[in-house]
Amino acid sequence: MHTTDFLVIGSGIAGLSFALKAATEFKDATVTIITKNEKNECNTKYAQGGISTVWDKTVDSFEQHTQDTLIAGDGICDEKVVKMVVKSAPDRLQELIDWGTQFDKTSNGEYSLGREGGHSQDRILHHKDITGAEIERALIEQVENAENITFLTYHYAIDLITEHQVKKKQIKRKEKVTCFGAYVLDEKKNIVKTFSAKVTMLATGGNGQVYNTTTNPVVATGDGIAMAYRAKAEISDVEFIQFHPTALYNPGEYPAFLISEAVRGEGAILRDYYGERFMKKYDDREELASRDIVARAIDNELKKSGTPNVYLDCTHLDYKAFKKHFPNITEKCMSLGIDVRKDYIPVSPAQHYICGGVNVNKKAKTSLKNLYASGEVTRTGLHGANRLASNSLLEGLVFSHNAVENLKKRFHKITIPQNVPVWNDSGVVKNMEKILITHDRNEVKTIMSNYVGIVRSNERLLRAEKRLKVLYEDNKRLYDHSELSTDLCELRNLITTAYLITQFSKNRKENRGGFYSADLV
Ligand code: FAD
Ligand code: SIN
Repeated sequence: MHTTDFLVIGSGIAGLSFALKAATEFKDATVTIITKNEKNECNTKYAQGGISTVWDKTVDSFEQHTQDTLIAGDGICDEKVVKMVVKSAPDRLQELIDWGTQFDKTSNGEYSLGREGGHSQDRILHHKDITGAEIERALIEQVENAENITFLTYHYAIDLITEHQVKKKQIKRKEKVTCFGAYVLDEKKNIVKTFSAKVTMLATGGNGQVYNTTTNPVVATGDGIAMAYRAKAEISDVEFIQFHPTALYNPGEYPAFLISEAVRGEGAILRDYYGERFMKKYDDREELASRDIVARAIDNELKKSGTPNVYLDCTHLDYKAFKKHFPNITEKCMSLGIDVRKDYIPVSPAQHYICGGVNVNKKAKTSLKNLYASGEVTRTGLHGANRLASNSLLEGLVFSHNAVENLKKRFHKITIPQNVPVWNDSGVVKNMEKILITHDRNEVKTIMSNYVGIVRSNERLLRAEKRLKVLYEDNKRLYDHSELSTDLCELRNLITTAYLITQFSKNRKENRGGFYSADLV
């Protein structure tokens, strides 16, 4: 049995910033971060464009950032949450800078502010086109210097511990449930450890791996949403999947390499397969319309032409400035023989982000007692039906901060849970056929890409539901009797989140933001 005051699941921006703040605020407390891969392997690491904040109040305002977020969210953001996040942003960004994150500056020594789709002002702090990697570097350095933080890599959270395990009783969905920690697979030793904790922070990120084409790394398997769902936490808005309009079209490359929206913010133009501009037909903001609109426009163009990609034209942009802001993109294109000075970049949409997830209030509290959640795993009300670009890293920072603020008032009242049973793996046998897991994982991706993609329909959703049910039954049999492995647990979670996205899609009766059904037009 492992006992810790704070158990943090995940080491992206949400998990690391929470751990740092908790460790600083509660100096006598123990903080344990577990993460299923290398320390920095997560969506955060791949973030390119940057973080939005109202930095220069002479040209920008909280009202404008709020309005842009509300418009992108297509009418269902929680306005109070949006205002809170937008107002908190400059302070959270300053903290990130104080922790050592380097953002690009102009020749005047001011922070260089970028722009992306849906933003009415330049307000995105960035580190070249590798903002996320820089944030991870700075946060990990801070975490490693904190004496009361233990950082465990290759530790995979299997399930949250609740009354279900402690009192050995079935929990109903509306019942008040408490979280007592988590069962965790030590992936190197192949043993399941029991972590009991006063507070658990779920910061497991997104679930892009349910799709064939995604910008998310392979760790993004929806574990947090599935674990929370099994523990009877409230989930919502998972039907709002954000497809990024411009992933590099490079068949065989997985995950898809992103061509940042900031490239369009700098003036790059979308052209169809035959070189014609097309965005005017879809939105007055053209290339800088919000993501759902641009992704659907491209999807429509691709369906009409039967071609696999459209193009992003940067040939008219100042190459020196382009290379300075986007060195990683320039180099990646060059490595494939695409010279952005004269060649168009082939692009097509790819799954990028999940707008919904585990419900939390402004304090990052889930519906389970002592379970907090922050980052992409959550549904906070900030994004509504479609996230405004560069609001995601910000959301993680703000809600992790708010969680610690809330805990200042109540942490001393929480006691270490008693009677937490250790993991029981009697009756399992070694799973001999790993290939079954690979087949099923590929099947989930294909089902979701074919039937629950940018444009859905009643028939497509029914097909997805039927096929996912079969996969669920097959996986359950395997899961109940096999020795646990990360692959097997991830498959279980992929099936669960795919099923949730499908069910929530079936229940949505109007097209909004990232949800679009051909039957509701
Ligand atoms: P993550 O950073 O994904 O971290 C999740 C962590 O949880 C990982 O460490 C993972 O290994 C761990 N984990 C997951 N499951 C388990 C488990 N069962 N057990 C243990 N550990 C687990 N957003 C912006 O705001 N600006 C951008 O410029 C931007 N660019 C992006 C570019 C790309 C290519 C991608 C993929 C996303 C981008 N986003 C951007 C979105 C943003 O990066 C993410 O939404 C954000 O980083 C999520 O942070 P997080 O801490 O919630 O999750
Ligand atoms: C990008 O750089 O285009 C991604 C920004 C985001 O997802 O917010």
